[in-house]
Amino acid sequence: MLDISEDGRTWVLSGPASSYAVHVTDRDELLHLHWGARIGLADAEALAVRPLPDYWPFESPLDGREEYPVEGGPRFARPALSVRTGERRGTEWTYEGHDAEDGELRLRFRDGDLAVTLHYRMRSSTDVVERWVTLDNHGPAVEVLRADSATWTLPDRDTWRLSQLHGRWGAESRLERSALTHGEKVIGSRRGHTGHQHLPWVALDTDATEERGEVYGCALGWSGSWRIAVAQLPDARVQITGGAGYDDSGLLMLGTGESYTTPVFAGLWTDGGYGGASRAWHAYQRAYVIPGADQDRPVLFNSWEATEFDISEEQQRALAERAAAMGVELFVVDDGWFGTRTSDRAGLGDWTPNPDRFPGGLKPLAEHVHGLGMQFGIWVEPEMVNPDSDLYRAHPDWVQYQPGRKRTEFRNQLVLNLARVDVQEYLWEQLDGLLSSAPIDYVKWDFNRCFTDAGWPDDPYPQRLWVDHVRALYALLDRLRAAHPGVAFESCSGGGGRIDLGVLGRTDQVWTSDNTDPLDRLAIQHGFSQIHPARVMAAWVTDSPNAMLNQRASSLRFRFVSAMAGVLGVGGDLTKWTERELAEARDWVELYKEIRPVVQRGELHRLRPPEGGLSAVQYVLGDESVVLAWLQAQRYGEPVPALRLRGLDPSASYECLKTGEVHRGAVLLHHGLRVGLRGDLDATVVRLKRK
Ligand code: DGJ
Repeated sequence: MLDISEDGRTWVLSGPASSYAVHVTDRDELLHLHWGARIGLADAEALAVRPLPDYWPFESPLDGREEYPVEGGPRFARPALSVRTGERRGTEWTYEGHDAEDGELRLRFRDGDLAVTLHYRMRSSTDVVERWVTLDNHGPAVEVLRADSATWTLPDRDTWRLSQLHGRWGAESRLERSALTHGEKVIGSRRGHTGHQHLPWVALDTDATEERGEVYGCALGWSGSWRIAVAQLPDARVQITGGAGYDDSGLLMLGTGESYTTPVFAGLWTDGGYGGASRAWHAYQRAYVIPGADQDRPVLFNSWEATEFDISEEQQRALAERAAAMGVELFVVDDGWFGTRTSDRAGLGDWTPNPDRFPGGLKPLAEHVHGLGMQFGIWVEPEMVNPDSDLYRAHPDWVQYQPGRKRTEFRNQLVLNLARVDVQEYLWEQLDGLLSSAPIDYVKWDFNRCFTDAGWPDDPYPQRLWVDHVRALYALLDRLRAAHPGVAFESCSGGGGRIDLGVLGRTDQVWTSDNTDPLDRLAIQHGFSQIHPARVMAAWVTDSPNAMLNQRASSLRFRFVSAMAGVLGVGGDLTKWTERELAEARDWVELYKEIRPVVQRGELHRLRPPEGGLSAVQYVLGDESVVLAWLQAQRYGEPVPALRLRGLDPSASYECLKTGEVHRGAVLLHHGLRVGLRGDLDATVVRLKRK
């Protein structure tokens, strides 16, 4: 809902629980008025006439109060927009007017030949405010040094606490909370992809708990380098500015008649605590971001941990047969099926099946897999090339490189320059051809190294490749999805190195982490769930001891219950599993299929965080609820505490579908559910249905 004042200078966007209000002064300053609980237009107008503070000359009254601080003029805060022409730097805009259409508000400003439009949208039934900016250049070339998507302004409070998700390869999305202090906290990626180091999300609160209190969250939809700066200004006001690109050294050159649209930076206010914030983000993504989120994701098998590069059609068939018998619904052949890819030293870029390994191409295996009743998927890493490949031998200039400098290799590979149209066309032909060559239902799209030598010798403005790479990736995914609508895509980047609202708009799920240790995963999944829903969070059960990371041994039960918190997959070497293990796994897969709608589409309540002892999550969908609980280590023989459930009707009764025991809703909510876990690394699943 959008309310506009009579003079057309104050706007209030409202969702079910919150409002967002801005105002243009008669000096054409765009001021932030309100973000929080619902208010009306009269409240916003009252805020609009409150005088700005009368600072001494060393501070600016605009700092911390503007919706989109531009560089130049009476400002010292970090600018969201920084542009320069041959003549001058900075922006001095005049207000041109507004448009409101289909729930989107556009505020139009102009500085000479440069039009700057701020976009706001609140889609129905959500409190998420989507913001982005477009720049249209009608004059001589303008260099865009930086164009953030939005600046978010928080209300005055005594103290703020910042939540962020930090990590590295094998240890992504771990939640960290700390007091915000004066100055700036900057997170981001200067790596060309979203990165394992931070998910592009922050949340700020003063005294929230899991279930109560105000939480402000911001999440960026961009899969390249990015930056979010959280600033506590000298007068303690807090602003969060974010967008594409890590620094201010130049994003792109806008020629005459050219435009740039920033990615969306979305913001959410809730007073439902961290849990309420997560549930609101999840609902928003399921409704407006993730394609086809009402369809549950299948249980998959992935061959990577079982075989690594040592693969053959015969061995994949053997794995597929065991996977099918276990109830798996999607069989994915990982790395090693193409070109001369028998190790990570060769073959990337040559997307045709290895004739020694797959003499008849992928089709016979795909058909066999279909014959077993499963979908068929493959792994690709299209943005990369090994120097030892036919592609690189033919086109050594297709990679990112600096003239006269070494081409830095990571994992023996270089990054293709996707900003080049010929590279885009090559990849389209290869991938479209591949998807047409065999009945392929699923593509795991990987990205295994960061940008380092991001040069483009023949281009007049090479640094545009940082942005254009991401745009080309999105365009390629969009084109492939349109041409092959039955194919699902997974975003992977050495695990969780490319997870953000941008890639989630064009992929069906993400590979959360290469760390498949079920205990480490609880913390990774806890962090991931702060912003993204279980519906996209792929999780595999692999072998024990965990060969990839830490040699930790754990029961099949613990591994399954850990992975069942997201989109369940199996990634162990099934040819080495005993008949007993295979039978037990079959039972877990069957149970997962029963709880899947509740896990993938339900509301998540984090009952206890994974901090050493008992941890648990609960999903609620309609009359059904599922509790997954894990005990890391029992100490001193103490019984584990009862789990106080949430999201249930206190006046209803709930039946445990395994034991038939009937629990009163009020008792579950106030006194809790007893889950008899014992010892180390124990886990359980409890299904409850309203009677
Ligand atoms: C990194 C991914 O995260 C793994 O799952 C696997 O696909 C390898 N790449 C293959 O090279």
